[in-house]
Amino acid sequence: MKTFIIAAILMALSTGLASQAQVKGHPVPSLVKNDGRYALFVDGAPYLMLSAQSNNSSDWPATLPKVWPAIEYLHANTLETPIYWEQFEPKPGQFDYSEVDTILAQARAHDVHLVLLWFGTWKNGSQHYMPEWMKLDPQRYFHVTSKEGEFVDSPSPFATASLEGDKRAFTAFMQHLKDADPERTVLMVQVENETGTWGTLRDYSPAAEKLFEAPVPAEVLKAMNKTQGTPSANWQDVFGPEADVCFHAWAVAKYVGQVAAAGKAVYPLPLYVNAALRDPLKPGAPGTYESGGPTDNVLSIWKAEAPAVDILAPDIYLSNTAAYLKVLDLYHRPDNALFVPETSGAVHEARFFFSALGLQAIGYSPFGLDYTRVHFVQPGEPIAQNAFLEPTAQNYRLIGPMMRDVARLDFEGKLQAVAEVEGQTAQTLHFGDWDAVISYGASGRGPAKENPEPIGRALVAQLQDNQFLVAGYFCRVDFRPAGTEQQRKSGNIVVGTGQTPSALIDGKWQHRQFLRVEEGSYENDTFKFMRILNGDQTDWGLNFGSEPEVLRVSVATY
Ligand code: DGJ
Repeated sequence: MKTFIIAAILMALSTGLASQAQVKGHPVPSLVKNDGRYALFVDGAPYLMLSAQSNNSSDWPATLPKVWPAIEYLHANTLETPIYWEQFEPKPGQFDYSEVDTILAQARAHDVHLVLLWFGTWKNGSQHYMPEWMKLDPQRYFHVTSKEGEFVDSPSPFATASLEGDKRAFTAFMQHLKDADPERTVLMVQVENETGTWGTLRDYSPAAEKLFEAPVPAEVLKAMNKTQGTPSANWQDVFGPEADVCFHAWAVAKYVGQVAAAGKAVYPLPLYVNAALRDPLKPGAPGTYESGGPTDNVLSIWKAEAPAVDILAPDIYLSNTAAYLKVLDLYHRPDNALFVPETSGAVHEARFFFSALGLQAIGYSPFGLDYTRVHFVQPGEPIAQNAFLEPTAQNYRLIGPMMRDVARLDFEGKLQAVAEVEGQTAQTLHFGDWDAVISYGASGRGPAKENPEPIGRALVAQLQDNQFLVAGYFCRVDFRPAGTEQQRKSGNIVVGTGQTPSALIDGKWQHRQFLRVEEGSYENDTFKFMRILNGDQTDWGLNFGSEPEVLRVSVATY
């Protein structure tokens, strides 16, 4: 009887939901902030983009067949792929929607979401994706002028005709998405690509020089916590050695902000801009990194000048652990949700996906993961068909089935995640009365001693006071009593060194015991119990190897 009532309620609920969906359709994806944390809402709930980015020239009918099998292998739920201005507007004002329609249809057929990358005025600091008719008119669609008075291979942010052209094309693209995508296959759009300039710090044209000598706009001063000083103070006076970079960031952000605002006015999808980084640990002088894009030193200028851009997102091609983690930290700000739109999918870097999760990343997307990537194979490197996909596939195989739960728990502040750091055998995560201890390289009773290579990663989410969801690879997870907040404040806690995690709290030993360790799998976003782990499987902690494993763990003390 009870089962019948529950089934009836569930059916009523699901019928209700279905009809609601039919009436209302799918809501536009949106970025939601609550209690200092962000989530991307898709179909009304937090969503985590387990994504991969195709190679730059892969979004063509001839090459897409080399993209989808890779996406399938990865278990990715999202594909990031470009839309090329040169293809989209072959003649001034004539728009060709065929590529957009092709990618929408194919993504739906593969049940995969899209993040579309508007390769417009800027692509890696150049204007290589401008349509031919623009390239052939460099006086009208002009480039940045160097100090020496030469045009360089980068679009000028002061070229009004380029700005107007980009606004018009981007608006047509967004309008088409609005009309053609009621299913919300497209979750977000990237505006331009790695904006800014290499080879010169800014535009030195006469018009730009005039602005550089003028007072710094009030919103820039405010954003950068600067004061004007004397009424005649110019950019150089206010920003000193960073003046050129700040000026260029202001000009580029203003331009991109207008393109973004024009598109958003017709279709309010979340928009982001990606950044070519400067060294996060030892930033070099201006000139050693791409100038004008949203590097960490000018994020506030971008926020002030381009409010229609929701996220400033780092492209992280760094293998150094401290540097990688520092970038995540720099771009995870109260005014900026963390999103990693490009990174390396190599074996040592794949673990940083978990570090990003630990900072409520809304998505993660290693670059170049399709089968057109032959040029990445180094001479002598064995051509193992899927070796370049495997590290990312391993992450997505584990998180894919539990994606909605992970996104929700992260948004609610109940989830923490970490990656192995060289030289650290263990990391501790704090959850109220419990500490979760993640250790690496331990086997049996032996001590933790790091993995031979740093590939360990884990996530822990608190489901109830004494119940946790745990998943990971190449690590051991255990729980240690942490005492109450008051006891912790009194500082009267000594951590035990025995095999069973324990702590001497206010003079009394508390030892962890497992009440129940359930191994399961996720089906339809729900944890399905498979078996209880005990004995060798739990006596020295919860061990995670190379296979995807999800545990639901209840703990108590004695
Ligand atoms: C960063 C750019 O944003 C990508 O489009 C691509 O060019 C990669 N660099 C490198 O291949």
